[in-house]
Amino acid sequence: MDRRDFIQSAGLGLAASAIMPSAAIAGSKVKGGTIKGAGGLFYTKDAPGRWSKKVAGHLPSIELDSGDEGVMVKVLTGHEMRGYEHYIVKHMLLNEHFEFIAENLFDPMTDDVPMSMFSLGNYSGRLNVLSMCNKHDVWLNHIDI
Ligand SMILES: [Fe+2]
Repeated sequence: MDRRDFIQSAGLGLAASAIMPSAAIAGSKVKGGTIKGAGGLFYTKDAPGRWSKKVAGHLPSIELDSGDEGVMVKVLTGHEMRGYEHYIVKHMLLNEHFEFIAENLFDPMTDDVPMSMFSLGNYSGRLNVLSMCNKHDVWLNHIDI
């Protein structure tokens, strides 16, 4: 192997490690099997991985209500909003196939509480909810509507 081949293969190794961070392993250890469709990229209550002491402040809570506009979903993450230093970046809703439904981005300079309200009309089925921390990755919870 000459120097050029070595540099190219080393670059591939770095690229592969960038694509498969340690978080990707955490989701695959969920009791009862993997989270189908999630690709094992998210931390959960049962699979907090390297963030096992961070569950309470990162797992999004989900509340449902129904009104004239149909299903209303309230998502709250019990996390501080300490400016750009440490904050919740966004909440995201995905359907049972992990396809995008909606998201709410937070401004850490003006949003004091990472809370989102979504109106889902007549949606039914599994609703996957993501909460993304700028330091502690992406957390998944779900509810069946
Ligand atoms: Fe965090």
